[in-house]
Amino acid sequence: MTMRFLRYHRRMQPQNLTELLSRLWHGADYNYEQWLEFPDVLHEDFRLMNLAHCTAMSVGIFSWAKLEPREGQYDFRWLDALMDDLHGHGIRAILATPSAAHPAWLSARVPEVQRMNHLGQREPHRGRQNFCRTSPVFREKVTAINTLLADRYKDHPALLLWHVSNEYGSTVCYCPTCLADFRRWLAARYGDLDGVNRAWWTTFWSHTYTDWDEIDPVDPSNNGLLLDWQRYNSDQVLDFYRMECAPLRQLTPHIPLTTNFMRPDVGLDYWKIAEHIDIVCWDSYPEWHVHDDVQTACETAFYHDLHRGYKQGQPFYLLESSPSQTNWQPLSRLKRPGMVKLASAQALAHGAMGVNYFQWRQSRGGEEKFHGAVVAHRGGENTRTFREVVEVGEMLAGMPALAAARTPARVGIIYDFENEWALGLAHLPRKVNKEYQATCIEHYTAFWRRGIPVDVINARQDFSKYALVIAPMLYLLSEETATRLTEFVRAGGTLVTTYMTGWVNESDLTHLGASPLEAVWGFKLVEYDTFGADQAGQVMCTAGNTLDLIGSARCGRFADLLEPTTAEVLAVYARDFYGTQAALTVNAYGQGKAYHLGTQVDEPFLGAFYEKLTRALGLFPLLTGLPHGVSAQARQTERQQFLFLMNFTNQTQTISVEETATDLPPYGVRIVVKDVEII
Ligand code: GLA
Ligand code: ZN
Repeated sequence: MTMRFLRYHRRMQPQNLTELLSRLWHGADYNYEQWLEFPDVLHEDFRLMNLAHCTAMSVGIFSWAKLEPREGQYDFRWLDALMDDLHGHGIRAILATPSAAHPAWLSARVPEVQRMNHLGQREPHRGRQNFCRTSPVFREKVTAINTLLADRYKDHPALLLWHVSNEYGSTVCYCPTCLADFRRWLAARYGDLDGVNRAWWTTFWSHTYTDWDEIDPVDPSNNGLLLDWQRYNSDQVLDFYRMECAPLRQLTPHIPLTTNFMRPDVGLDYWKIAEHIDIVCWDSYPEWHVHDDVQTACETAFYHDLHRGYKQGQPFYLLESSPSQTNWQPLSRLKRPGMVKLASAQALAHGAMGVNYFQWRQSRGGEEKFHGAVVAHRGGENTRTFREVVEVGEMLAGMPALAAARTPARVGIIYDFENEWALGLAHLPRKVNKEYQATCIEHYTAFWRRGIPVDVINARQDFSKYALVIAPMLYLLSEETATRLTEFVRAGGTLVTTYMTGWVNESDLTHLGASPLEAVWGFKLVEYDTFGADQAGQVMCTAGNTLDLIGSARCGRFADLLEPTTAEVLAVYARDFYGTQAALTVNAYGQGKAYHLGTQVDEPFLGAFYEKLTRALGLFPLLTGLPHGVSAQARQTERQQFLFLMNFTNQTQTISVEETATDLPPYGVRIVVKDVEII
């Protein structure tokens, strides 16, 4: 028996997607249902929303118990009133399906809706997002309530966008239904058990399976198994999402669908999930003023670019951000004056179509009552936060043309989830702190600091629109991706790879013989070393190298020992028994070039490398001479360029725009709109 919901509806472009993408939106998560006994509060909320220029509110996210107080007894009256009130105030609804927090009566009646841990114990009902995604009863109940919601509001003029569930995660369930589903997933991927045994190299330690039921996804010694378990759980989330969408697509084909993403470390392959959503939304909670703000800004920029990348440059919606503090991070400081606007502008600069907050009004009780909100417990509009939120609303309302503007990037940095998982699972001579994400961000930083736009891209996509593709630590490299990278270089592209590239295929089996990129690289990888935190190595540039690199740099983490065949050596190691062996190479291949950084070089050297390389490729910064901590990002239409100049430091910074010196105050932003030649 299959637990899958089989009647998925054909994908079509919802009519209202065009409307959604044609404007900039502003709003917040609104927990109206918490305040039903306080009509004055509700009344006041709509007044304040209008004052704050709110145009779209996320509603109904955690209201299952209010919508279905007893099994089968639904009450939509309060939601009718909310939808009508929103409409009456000119505000649209981002209407959620309520699966993220199910009622206690459901767990009590059907314990199987709760997840099971790996020891076979059912988890008790608590918190939220705690359900088993394959439970047939849970799926039935979700389908029932989603169908009723879609049917009831399908013609409601407030309905803008479906917010399917909330922050799906990949928390796993080991119940018999999930394990059976995993085994079916494996059968679909590998055909039969022999295929599974081959893919996972199960002769190792006598792991050979003779029956599907022997497959138990908790064995850390079987990397292939755990990689597939991770893939399966991501696919299970996608399957659950699609099950939720089926009645929505059927009854409201004109309304776009989304679900809110988080930072990329939650164990989901967002590239895959993004193919099934209409717009990308994400929830961003940078720890401003806790660490170095410039570093935080750069990391946040990377995540925004990643979210813009999920749908190949289509604007994303910043669906949650805190207008002040959070209450779940180890430490959350008050946003300094200007920071709400700056953080919102940063999202816009990187491709956002809207900025929403969590949350509109602070709840009175429960775990999040001290989380920041647009409206505080004291109430009213006379707060610093409220005033800054109004400013964001004004900024959004003042730039309608930005909605059509896109990011002009010619550099792509690959970020790959399967690679991240495989690398994380791999028992390497360096077992911890492999730092895949940090490495991607280190390479990204070189561009962010210089004001050169970057796309964060999928390893499975076409690379031809980029002049430069960077593939940091692409340890898991399928033959197929290797072929596309090879073709990219052959056709004239420039590729940068690093240590730990191309070691295993998609099953986490090592490539035998030559690496799939060896011809492109023009070297053989013979050995590699790794460094402890206090064991830095050193690299030294070769005299007269073609990139004109000079000097030396500290290096760390990993060191590939390379034997060039056709590659030119740009830098060599300068220490240890492998001093003088190649560390940085370039190889001409077809019409293009492939650079390889065999070791993690320090920030100034990496910066200088990309400075020389981008210059050689004619990739110029949006603005030259950016002071440290000032970021320049652009979006453009055929006629206009929106240049965002953002100061992430607590000092005034002076920049020069079109030969005029301009001061950017601490945490200040300036948006320069100029007409451009038709491109
Ligand atoms: C997440 C959730 C919200 C809320 C916020 C708090 O992003 O989606 O419901 O809990 O965190 O920051
Ligand atoms: Zn389960």
